[in-house]
Amino acid sequence: MAETAAPHSQHRDSSSTTSAALIELEGLTKRYGALVAVDNVSMRIAEGEVRAVIGPNGAGKTTLFHLITGVVPPTSGRVQFAGEDITGLPTHVTCQRGLSRTFQLTSLFPEMSARENARLAAQARHSRRWQPFGGAQMFAEAQRAGDVALEQLSLTHVAGRPAGLLSHGDQRLLEVAMAMAQSPKVMLLDEPTQGLSVEETAKAVETLAHFLDTSRITVMLVEHDMEVVFRLAHKITVLHRGAVIADGTPVDVKASARVQEAYLGGIE
Ligand SMILES: Nc1ncnc2c1ncn2[C@@H]1O[C@H](COP(=O)(O)OP(=O)(O)OP(=O)(O)O)[C@@H](O)[C@H]1O
Ligand SMILES: [Mg+2]
Repeated sequence: MAETAAPHSQHRDSSSTTSAALIELEGLTKRYGALVAVDNVSMRIAEGEVRAVIGPNGAGKTTLFHLITGVVPPTSGRVQFAGEDITGLPTHVTCQRGLSRTFQLTSLFPEMSARENARLAAQARHSRRWQPFGGAQMFAEAQRAGDVALEQLSLTHVAGRPAGLLSHGDQRLLEVAMAMAQSPKVMLLDEPTQGLSVEETAKAVETLAHFLDTSRITVMLVEHDMEVVFRLAHKITVLHRGAVIADGTPVDVKASARVQEAYLGGIE
């Protein structure tokens, strides 16, 4: 594995295990018939932490995000967020509580401008409370939240362009901006560099690293690219066939024989 730049975590004090967990999963399990997609997963994520969740295809990473954000209910186990039990609450409620996510496959409105996409994302968080498009003030607030998020992801210069015409890297960053426009407490990013070339990935990762450093937002990140993981994550949880097989700092996880085996196919 190639050496990577020092993770930006070195500049942040978020490694404390004494701080209260913002997200706490207890024995989270999801079965689809005989298949255990997520198998008795427990983890604690501290406020300000960037946690990568890695593992081979089909390991259960996206399903884990689905369970946390309420896309699907767990078969058993609990999700605690900011000290409250949110297990099985639907997505619009988890979003209102402060969990925002991006999806593995793109979810932009390609013909709308980047700015409109960000504003609509901001409105979506409050759609049950706000009248859609109701009130100039609410519209302006959503616009402002969207514009701030675009600025945070270094997208202001392309804000007026149709989202579908942005570079692939900027499209992925726009999805992060859309999650951020919802003023979340936690962001769950599912493979933010998927589909990008090596050059696009490098550029997007530098923007993300800067954004994470300045925003200090708590993040769960699913990512296949280990360079990206080591650049961005403070801690890493490794899933294999739904279960946690390793958990720790990037250095610990890199050194884990079990992780090497899982990635090299030894456990198959
Ligand atoms: N709705 C569903 N019904 C049945 N099986 C499912 C469903 N969703 C996911 N699975 C299965 O659960 C397992 C975990 O899938 P999941 O999408 O969470 O993996 P992943 O780690 O995100 O994989 P990838 O790296 O390919 O994105 C897989 O075997 C998948 O086929
Ligand atoms: Mg997935």
